[in-house]
Amino acid sequence: MKLKIALLPGDGIGPEVIQQATKILDAIAKKYNHIFEYKTALVGAIAIEETGNPLPNKTLETCSDADAILFGAIGDPKYDNNPSAKIRPEQGLLKLRKKLGLFANIRPITTYNSLIHKSNLKKDVIKGTDFVIYRELTGGIYFGEKKLSADGNSASDNCNYTANEIDRIAHLAFKAASVRRKKLTLVDKANVLETSRLWRKRIIKMAKEYPTVKLEFLFVDNAAMQLILNPKQFDVILTENMFGDILSDEASVISGSIGLLASASIGEHTALFEPVHGSYSQAKEKNIANPLAAILSAAMLLEYFDLFDEAEDIKNAVEKSIDLNISTPDLNTTNHFSTTSVGNFLRDFILDEENTFYNK
Ligand code: IPM
Ligand code: MN
Repeated sequence: MKLKIALLPGDGIGPEVIQQATKILDAIAKKYNHIFEYKTALVGAIAIEETGNPLPNKTLETCSDADAILFGAIGDPKYDNNPSAKIRPEQGLLKLRKKLGLFANIRPITTYNSLIHKSNLKKDVIKGTDFVIYRELTGGIYFGEKKLSADGNSASDNCNYTANEIDRIAHLAFKAASVRRKKLTLVDKANVLETSRLWRKRIIKMAKEYPTVKLEFLFVDNAAMQLILNPKQFDVILTENMFGDILSDEASVISGSIGLLASASIGEHTALFEPVHGSYSQAKEKNIANPLAAILSAAMLLEYFDLFDEAEDIKNAVEKSIDLNISTPDLNTTNHFSTTSVGNFLRDFILDEENTFYNK
């Protein structure tokens, strides 16, 4: 198969983890005789620095032209510490999601046997956890009208949802649940928010089309607690944009590190794959960032094109690296490996070659 992949490394550790992800994609291409063509484009703080725009038109063109997009990370402390900045790196990612119509963000949460004992959570609580978050990605408070009063003393962010915005992701979540363990949990705040009540109404109506799926509702505050108390109860979680953002970071603790969480953003035309973690600027260019989330995002990209054996190869290699403790400091505090050597190990494992990972 021939695929045109747009690479948007972005900020902080983004370029380093994307470099490892392409290393792994190249290994897969070699093993299975695929052709993956990359085109790199600017986004985020680096794009602001070079062009004044967090999402230059050229980047948007590169993305529209590609079969899929592999995204690194976005954000820079320079902007985080300056709330008055009008042009912000994150606008690049938000605009990209909106322009490409990437309305569904899919974030799977699993556990790895060899990491379970390292978790802050009890082994019995997390062992066997396997769920997926369907986060709405182009609506809600992220995209509502934003206002700051002239005197700077009052501000508002509007939260809007239309029935259509709810329905299109809800169908995907119901379908996912019907081929998994057949349980869908809608997370909302319907005791307070009008938008949440609309979500409930639409989902209750739609449930009739998916009679095999058991539907449950949780308020988001309770959901945040249940995730830690009993994560095994979940199969598919469906939720709006901001709740999904918050709950997926929380859920990463179950896997062992946010450095492990991959995601796919899908929509009308194209799809974007990105690690759930942020730009982690303190680690930039230190060769310590965990590349696994980006690499697993590349595996999700392959699955999107039905390259299941290829994706499985990547997941097996990742599992092996974790089992052997060939891991970056977030997972291996005593004798850690570098970003590059984790990538090298996976590549060699996939290609079944003599491992070169001993040079840490
Ligand atoms: C994410 C990130 C983004 C979000 C930021 C960088 C805008 O936290 O993808 O989870 O909030 O959606
Ligand atoms: Mn987030």
